[in-house]
Amino acid sequence: VGYEFHPLLMAKITGTINYVSGGRLGVNIVAAHDPVDYAQFGFEQARTPAERYEIADEFTTLLKYLWTSEHPIDFEGDYFRTRGGQINPRPASKPRPLLINAAGSDLGIDYACRQCDAIFISARDRTQEAYAAMAEKIHSTAASYGRKVRICAMCYVVMEDTDEKAAETVNWLADEVDIDALKNQFWRNKPVYHQDQGEADDPYLGLGLDWFRARGLGMGGYQLFGSYETVADQLAGLHEAGVEHVALCFFDPNKGVQQMGEHVIPLLRERGLRATS
Ligand SMILES: Cc1cc2nc3c(=O)[nH]c(=O)nc-3n(C[C@H](O)[C@H](O)[C@H](O)COP(=O)(O)O)c2cc1C
Repeated sequence: VGYEFHPLLMAKITGTINYVSGGRLGVNIVAAHDPVDYAQFGFEQARTPAERYEIADEFTTLLKYLWTSEHPIDFEGDYFRTRGGQINPRPASKPRPLLINAAGSDLGIDYACRQCDAIFISARDRTQEAYAAMAEKIHSTAASYGRKVRICAMCYVVMEDTDEKAAETVNWLADEVDIDALKNQFWRNKPVYHQDQGEADDPYLGLGLDWFRARGLGMGGYQLFGSYETVADQLAGLHEAGVEHVALCFFDPNKGVQQMGEHVIPLLRERGLRATS
């Protein structure tokens, strides 16, 4: 939202897709921070965190009015204005489409807890304990506003018949990580800093082996690696940690979706974590 796309445009696009899909659209609000992205949109510099979340707040408030109001609305904010703003068709989802966010900062989490329905969490050490602590913090912040916000985790999944086979695949994938893509992601907005630190010559880009592999295998998301039983156990662990949704990313999506349906979901049903019908 930092690039000042007008909420009316976003309400029209998302409202229409939600309507024609019978409600199968939610919106992930990103309060962008990357200076390269700002430059591409013609801004001289990235906005400060405080400004990004002020814009996000106002954007979300107006978006909600536009999605839900049966009448044209007037809105006068610091960043956005509309006179007689209205969309048609309105979303099929009632009261409105799902709003999700992936803030990491305290400021961002505060915004998400006030304005969104769900939040993606991540923790650098990728353990059940670290995710439980994040989930607890978010649930209690939301509760302080009298709200309930659901916790989501983005996961990278590599599954095989056995743990050993999955480990082989993971090792092979780790050897094949696209170093240039990772370098671009990490250095494009801070090349001088990293080169000054001598990190240009470091095969792990100054991240250390563990975090380098985590970024290369799933962008730092929670890693679900192993047999179907192991993956089901790990998903049950996330559930125990307070995670209420998962976005699963597969190395091979066609195979991964099939493996989930045939092998993992039945195991989750046995554990009472999926509806039985
Ligand atoms: C599914 C998903 C999609 C994301 N898409 C973007 C994106 O398009 N652009 C971006 O800068 N960050 C994206 N992010 C990362 C964070 O949402 C974003 O960097 C956020 O501003 C970080 O939190 P902070 O503002 O509290 O520091 C995405 C994260 C997730 C989980």
